[in-house]
Amino acid sequence: MTEPVTGVGVVGAGVISEQYLQTLSGAPGVDVRFVADRDPERARARAQEFDVPAWGTYDDLLADSTVDLVVNLTVPQAHAEVSVAALESGRHVWSEKPLATTLEDARAVLSAAETADRRVGVAPDTFLGTGLQTGLAAIRDGRVGRPRSASCAFQYGGPDIWHPSPEFLFAEGGGPVLDVGPYHVTALVQVFGPVRRVTARGVTTRRRRRVETGPRAGTEFDVEVPTHVTALYEFADGSVADAVFSFDAPVQRMVLEVAGTEGGVRLVDPNQFTGTTSLVAFDGSEEPLEPRGAAVDGRGAGVVDIARSLHDGTPHRASGELALHVLEVLLATERSVADGSSVEITSTVAAADLLPADATPAEAVTV
Ligand SMILES: NC(=O)c1ccc[n+]([C@@H]2O[C@H](COP(=O)([O-])OP(=O)(O)OC[C@H]3O[C@@H](n4cnc5c(N)ncnc54)[C@H](O)[C@@H]3O)[C@@H](O)[C@H]2O)c1
Repeated sequence: MTEPVTGVGVVGAGVISEQYLQTLSGAPGVDVRFVADRDPERARARAQEFDVPAWGTYDDLLADSTVDLVVNLTVPQAHAEVSVAALESGRHVWSEKPLATTLEDARAVLSAAETADRRVGVAPDTFLGTGLQTGLAAIRDGRVGRPRSASCAFQYGGPDIWHPSPEFLFAEGGGPVLDVGPYHVTALVQVFGPVRRVTARGVTTRRRRRVETGPRAGTEFDVEVPTHVTALYEFADGSVADAVFSFDAPVQRMVLEVAGTEGGVRLVDPNQFTGTTSLVAFDGSEEPLEPRGAAVDGRGAGVVDIARSLHDGTPHRASGELALHVLEVLLATERSVADGSSVEITSTVAAADLLPADATPAEAVTV
């Protein structure tokens, strides 16, 4: 008996498409059938690298009736338009973060999904990985008592060091808040529930930066966004978290720590799927935790979760509603930096269910 699968079309054959295609090529219940890019040569090269049978423009992808779900790996500034086109053509969508660069566009994506009765899932899907699932399970099992506070940092020298076309990460819609903030705010919402107020301050340390790697190395460009931001998040349940998001830090720090009434937990870097999770007692002693199951440890885990949920008829976890709340929080972070205010958050969302503890990639998935 052949296993039914969700046919996947990838649009955006840039840097991150390699990781996605690695995961999705071996993942259960999905079959990559098309790679599209506005640069057709780039689409061809990526498709051939992973034995994907078809490639071309995004219009070509949308004309391919074997594609059920579009994986949108374009730049943030194109996310909403590309996702809406997929939904209007009757496809489900997985989008890289952020869902959109404005709340208006984000709501338009969710509304197109509702009209078409299709699913929208949005990165990050790292919270579906073994690392965060292990830490979240410990918290939900009461191992730290009631969680009350968190400290987060995602700080390093910036993507101009490693990305061959980093300009979009320093333009409106990019910056450390929208680029790396989604990892932490998504994880925090899984711990504390929705955010109710944001206060943040920040600076743009260098107004011009330079591409440091690849064929365009040496090209200078303008910086449009704050590149070092410190934020204070207040949650509806009264808990608080501090966060640093920075492309300006010579000292790299990737921190996600949660403290509760009975102790704390040192979680993995929420940009990663795996890593060591430890319970930390008030005397500072640490106890590493046994890793918990995850369906897939790699970018694309959320695509596999949508395919599984279409089969089960259950909600998928990295949902459009979660991404909308996270985007509102991150845009509020930028607004607070710009005008010095504290910004109230109007949207709300519940934390997603954990994956089953025995989740395994071997399970069958279908549409
Ligand atoms: N690079 C990373 O390590 C990384 C990690 C996690 C998430 N992401 C996210 O993935 C997305 C893509 O990042 P990237 O680093 O791969 O960028 P990239 O610039 O390397 O690739 C983007 C690709 O999308 C194509 N594209 C842009 N607009 C298009 C459109 N309208 N139609 C068709 N193709 C279009 C471009 O030609 C390019 O090939 C971003 O949202 C980013 O935040 C990137």
